[in-house]
Amino acid sequence: MDKFVIRGGNPLVGTIRVSGAKNSALPCMAAAILTEEEVTLENIPQVRDIETERKLLASMGAVVGQREGSARDRMTISCRSLSDPVARYEIVKTMRASSLVLGPLIARAGVARVAMPGGCAIGGRPIDLHIKGLEKMGANITQQHGYLEARAERLQGAHLVFDKITVTGTEDLLMAAVLAEGETLMENCAREPEVTDLAALLTAMGARIEGAGTAVIRVKGVSSLHGATYRINPDRIEAGTFLIAGAITRGDLTVANCDPSHLGAVLNKLKEAGARVESVGSDAVRVQAPERLRAADISTEEYPGFPTDMQAQYMALATQAEGTSQVRENIFENRFMHVQELVRMGANIKVDGSTATVRGPSPLSAAAVMCSDLRASASLVLAALVADGESILDRVYHMDRGYERIEEKLQSVGAQIQRMGDIFPPVNMRRATDNSPVAPTA
Ligand code: UD1
Repeated sequence: MDKFVIRGGNPLVGTIRVSGAKNSALPCMAAAILTEEEVTLENIPQVRDIETERKLLASMGAVVGQREGSARDRMTISCRSLSDPVARYEIVKTMRASSLVLGPLIARAGVARVAMPGGCAIGGRPIDLHIKGLEKMGANITQQHGYLEARAERLQGAHLVFDKITVTGTEDLLMAAVLAEGETLMENCAREPEVTDLAALLTAMGARIEGAGTAVIRVKGVSSLHGATYRINPDRIEAGTFLIAGAITRGDLTVANCDPSHLGAVLNKLKEAGARVESVGSDAVRVQAPERLRAADISTEEYPGFPTDMQAQYMALATQAEGTSQVRENIFENRFMHVQELVRMGANIKVDGSTATVRGPSPLSAAAVMCSDLRASASLVLAALVADGESILDRVYHMDRGYERIEEKLQSVGAQIQRMGDIFPPVNMRRATDNSPVAPTA
């Protein structure tokens, strides 16, 4: 199992580039199921969740092409034949977003067999709202042996009102609705940019959708869709993580290839914390750290509120800010797995229900810590970048699910971070004052 060895203390300076959004790419790949023609996606990030979905589509009979080298961010998917419309447990268990194939499979093939996703580190995360919506559209869904079996001759347009805002739920039902007979009116939809991204691809494939990016989406079903080429938007969570990396390390970092209009809540908080933040052209943001960071409260909300996927990273920043920051998690239960590891590094954090109170600034000291989920890992990387000494982060496979070559990107702006295999202890790190990337001696 790979580990990261990080020596803290270097300010990050320079320009760092953001990859395509994993959470847009995943539904867009699933959308390819809706047509017999080829769908080409550009700006696909090279992360493990994408590889998992590639395997999932291939296991169902899709032909997925991806070149090697610099063109690897371009993927072609052909679902001419879907010989086996089954999402097997072995694949679904490693990535909950696999449930995104449910809607498109029923819409296209009239039948789907999808393993129920298990619990996961950040709460129960049910998919009852996906099921309820599909049933309302006429699907007959049963549960057997850990699998959902869904059938429908042709889905019917319906009036769907989500009891709770769900991102992948909105995406799943949107994909079902585009091939349904008649009109579907969806209310209380997620407004995340990833939903808008998916809707733009579906529209390019011939779907008729109005209102994506708002709470009400109206879809006029069509009988078939065609192929399309679509470029995935930049990853706003990766961009936000780098902005915090710049601020927490007292750096001066330009985050390039991002969409600043998707980062409003995060940029506002960074400003409240005292950082200087400015747009550079239309697709980059520069963050300059202040002399002293100030405490600021956050409360996670659906888009355009502060993203739950940035909560853990923000908490790392709050440990370095002067004063008391309240961090409220409103989207997921049990999403404070990073807290105990941050505390082990010297942070002063108390959790009471869904609120964490962070008192800072606390000098962090390097430690061996364990990554527990994707964003918790990012939080620990940020903490290690300012900790005194050499931290070892275990289970970085969580990080690899959603961040593309993060160690290389961070090295390029001055971080001392190295990926190590199982052999241990293999590194002779340079001093924190040495700005060049670390190199293992063994
Ligand atoms: C997506 C993102 C994830 C992000 C989350 C919230 C992807 C692949 N993942 O996850 O990174 O953290 O949005 O922004 O895009 N819920 C139900 N029933 C359902 C569905 C959801 O009760 O059928 C609840 C969940 O338990 C949670 C809340 O709704 O409390 C929001 O979850 P949801 O938006 O569905 O998260 P995901 O789409 O799984």
